[in-house]
Amino acid sequence: SSTGDDGASGDGGSGDVITVGFAQTGSESGWRSANTESMKEAFSADNGFDLKFNAADNKQEAQIAAVRSFINQGVDAIVIAPITVDGWDDVLKEAQDAGIPVVLEDRTVSASEDLYASWVGLDFEQEGKTAGEWVKENFDGKGANLVILEGTTGSSAALDRATGFAEATEGTDINVLDSQTGDFTRDGGKKVMEGYLQKYGDDIDVLFAHNDDMGLGALDAIEAAGLTPGKDIQIVTIDAVHDGMQALADGKFNFIVECNPLLGEKAADLVKAVLAGETVEKKTIVPDQSFTQEQAIEALPTRPY
Ligand code: AHR
Repeated sequence: SSTGDDGASGDGGSGDVITVGFAQTGSESGWRSANTESMKEAFSADNGFDLKFNAADNKQEAQIAAVRSFINQGVDAIVIAPITVDGWDDVLKEAQDAGIPVVLEDRTVSASEDLYASWVGLDFEQEGKTAGEWVKENFDGKGANLVILEGTTGSSAALDRATGFAEATEGTDINVLDSQTGDFTRDGGKKVMEGYLQKYGDDIDVLFAHNDDMGLGALDAIEAAGLTPGKDIQIVTIDAVHDGMQALADGKFNFIVECNPLLGEKAADLVKAVLAGETVEKKTIVPDQSFTQEQAIEALPTRPY
């Protein structure tokens, strides 16, 4: 059994194994697959971990239940990629009372910072802002019509991207026709885009999708409606996973803001440091870049995911 006392020395078999419960959101997107892989690699037995993995199928109650089960199992530490920002206070308090430190990865929560040890993730607001700046640069002054595919309702990724995008496009003459959730999935993106196309037809000039997968789903709907994605409707998305980058390289997407899913190593370092009693940063933001078509063509051959 593990104690976690000397977690910092758990590198390859010396010292005790660290048992970690990881509560993942689900498997909604290509980004999520890359993130899960990065986490599993970093929390591997080779690195001194025994990983208990749960994916909650994008359901908040299931994710909270998974965290409770990790507490009951007496794991050494818990890592959560929180589906939504709200609803975490009680279970985080329960972990704290049980003496189990929690590290958050990817998304943030609205609960008090005292209830978790650390967070590593991305600046979602900046991602939305970068997407908005691209739209402003290319469409302001043209009276363009925009539709938005939002991520999972109540997730920090969707909330902060919406805030950043609105901030960047404020004061422009861009007309937001509609904004609905596609839950970060291809299916969701396709269905909502079909509805937009039925309602607004070829009035739509530009689409902002909160992630690549919803944008990829929308491509199917746009092509099925006899329109050319990237031309009749320009598309900006967030993530820069392989299929999104391929769509950009092919001219079907027009711009992608990156969201880096490779957070595993940093999360594992944080868990070890916290268990070793070290003081850690409360927030670690991993930098993102953005891609035009030319940059996507150049980056694609060496992208790791
Ligand atoms: O929280 C990060 C977001 O979650 C990614 O942008 C999206 O693809 C994923 O589902």
